[in-house]
This record gives sequence, C-alpha cells and structure tokens, in this order.
Amino acid sequence: MTAKYLVTGGAGFIGTNLVSQLCASGEKVTILDNFSTGKKKNLRDLPKDMRVIEDDVLDLKSLRKHVKGHDFVIHLAGQPSVLKSVKDPEESLQINGMGTLNALIAARDAKVKRFVHVGSAAAYGETPSLPKLETMNEMPLSPYAVSTIAGEQQCKVFFSTYGLQTVILRAFNIYGPYQDAANPHGAVVPRFIVTLLEAKPPVISGDGKQSRDFLHVSDLVEAIKAACIAPKAEGELFNIATGSRVTVNGLVNMLNSLLGKEIQPKYEEARPGDIRHSLADVTKAQEMLGFRPRVSILDGLKTTLEWYRKSL
Ligand SMILES: NC(=O)c1ccc[n+]([C@@H]2O[C@H](COP(=O)([O-])OP(=O)(O)OC[C@H]3O[C@@H](n4cnc5c(N)ncnc54)[C@H](O)[C@@H]3O)[C@@H](O)[C@H]2O)c1
Repeated sequence: MTAKYLVTGGAGFIGTNLVSQLCASGEKVTILDNFSTGKKKNLRDLPKDMRVIEDDVLDLKSLRKHVKGHDFVIHLAGQPSVLKSVKDPEESLQINGMGTLNALIAARDAKVKRFVHVGSAAAYGETPSLPKLETMNEMPLSPYAVSTIAGEQQCKVFFSTYGLQTVILRAFNIYGPYQDAANPHGAVVPRFIVTLLEAKPPVISGDGKQSRDFLHVSDLVEAIKAACIAPKAEGELFNIATGSRVTVNGLVNMLNSLLGKEIQPKYEEARPGDIRHSLADVTKAQEMLGFRPRVSILDGLKTTLEWYRKSL
C-alpha cells in the first residue's frame, strides 16, 4: 500500500536520492526544505505531482501544519559540514539540534508511524578503537558532532518519553550523485572528482593517511526505507556504512586510475575537528534492518564520476 512520506531537507544530496527512489516505488512524497544548501534544480527530474514546501524546520508552528497526514517523517534537514560548524557553532546547533527537536514535536503531535533520523559517525569522534560500535560512548571532536548528537539524543528521548517510534541511522561518509561539489566546506568525493576532471591537483587536508568508511548513497536510501518498516527497530540506533575503509590518499589513487590520470594531490594543514580514522561495525543493521551494502567503492566511484561528467 502507498505510504505518505515527509522528507525534510529533501532537496539536498541525500534527500534528492531518497525522494527519487521513493517516487519510483510509487510512494507519496512531500519535500520540506528551505533551500539553504538544497537546490530547486535537483527536483527537475522528479514527478510533477510531488509536493514541495519551501519552509524552515526552525518554524515549529508551520512545521506542525505540514507534518499532519503523513505516515513517515524522514529528517534530513541539517547543516552537514564539520568545517562550517567550526566557523559557526551556534548555527549548527540551531539547525541540527533545535531543527530536529521541532521535527520530533511535530511528528509526535501528528502521530506519525515512524520518524527516521540520519545522524552522523562524527558522534564517535576520538573514540580510540576501530571498528565503531553503537554501544561506544560519543566523544565529539567538533561543534558539528555535538549538534548531531543533540539531535540523536532527542530522538531517543522522544521514543522513551512519548512513545514516538524513532529510528536513528548513524551514517558514515556518504557519496554519490547530487552531492555539492562547489561547496568549499563540502565532502571530499565530489570535490576531488571535479578537481580531477578539470585536470587540477586535489587538495588533501593533512597527510592523506586518514581513513573513512565511504558508502554509496543508494545503500543509505535502502537503509532509510528499511528503517521505516523493520520490526523492533524503533528506539534503536544503527551504524550505516560498508564496514571497510579507504584512506584519502587511496581515494585519490582510485579516482586517478578510473580517469586514466596520474595527477598528484597537494597537501595542506589538517582541518580542526576532523577525525583520524572511521570504520563501522554494521552487524546490528545487518541483523535488524536486513541492511546489505550492494555498491562496491570502485563501482560507486565509477558511476558517480559519470554523473558529474554529464552534469557539469
Ligand atoms: N552526506 C554525508 O556524508 C552525511 C553523513 C552523515 C550524516 N549526514 C546528515 O544527513 C543530513 C543530510 O545531509 P546531506 O549530505 O544531504 O546535506 P545537504 O546540505 O545536501 O542537505 C541538507 C538539506 O537540508 C536543507 N536545510 C538546511 N537547513 C534547513 C532548515 N532550517 N529548514 C529546512 N531545510 C533545511 C538544505 O537546504 C538541504 O536541502 C544532514 O543532517 C547531515 O548532517 C550526512
């Protein structure tokens, strides 16, 4: 049966990929976005009858009105950049903390079936051991990490206090089509792809030996869909990643070899707030959500490269 989804931040990177998948499966989708980093042009390929509401999650009164009548809220509206949070910690806490609280209040009052929140692996921060397990304590290293933890904690409390079915997906490094390449505060994959396509050297912060667990966005989309319906997932937090890691130097090598180039990167000072290594244990998501990442890093980078080649 068709369900009604409200996707906050639906015009952003993860949102656009999610919404196009939901629409392709025949679901009814409403996007709520203030288009601060999300783009109207991202929505061009989506069905014309889809609802798009231009509004802010910081406006609780109107959010309440918009959430009514939906089965699921997928909360993606957020400020996703560590670097930007270091420059403006207050803004990050407002959007990721208060914005999430508002979305939870509106979802609780509208009695939605489930609220799925995409949090971040930045929450693990400087926890010393790898891989990261959901049972580890949070050790934030940046204002962004604090703000994403604030959102996650509110989700937990809305389940324990009000019985709202919340599911937290702690996403690791997500990449794929529609990720903003122009944003200097943005993620490495699109920045490196665009620089290499322009035959320029990619700039690596630090020595490049830092490692990340990179997941293709289509696998995160599958996890979000599973989180809406998986039995006993309510009140739980899941790592969403591949369970393997690649160094930033390794990422540049892979992109170079996919492009048939040998462009050497430039190195600059490490960025404040960045974690050294990141790798997930995804056993819990495998067991409870049936999560199986399907896209290998090489295939994922190859199709992402093709997408940027066509869209630039
Ligand atoms: N991309 C990743 O690797 C990653 C990893 C872990 C967690 N996350 C989290 O997932 C969420 C989505 O990330 P993304 O990469 O798609 O980022 P994005 O910037 O592409 O998307 C965020 C969307 O939220 C919208 N938005 C921001 N503030 C808003 C507000 N006050 N009201 C309404 N809309 C607002 C933006 O316009 C944008 O469309 C963020 O919360 C981010 O922290 C992302």
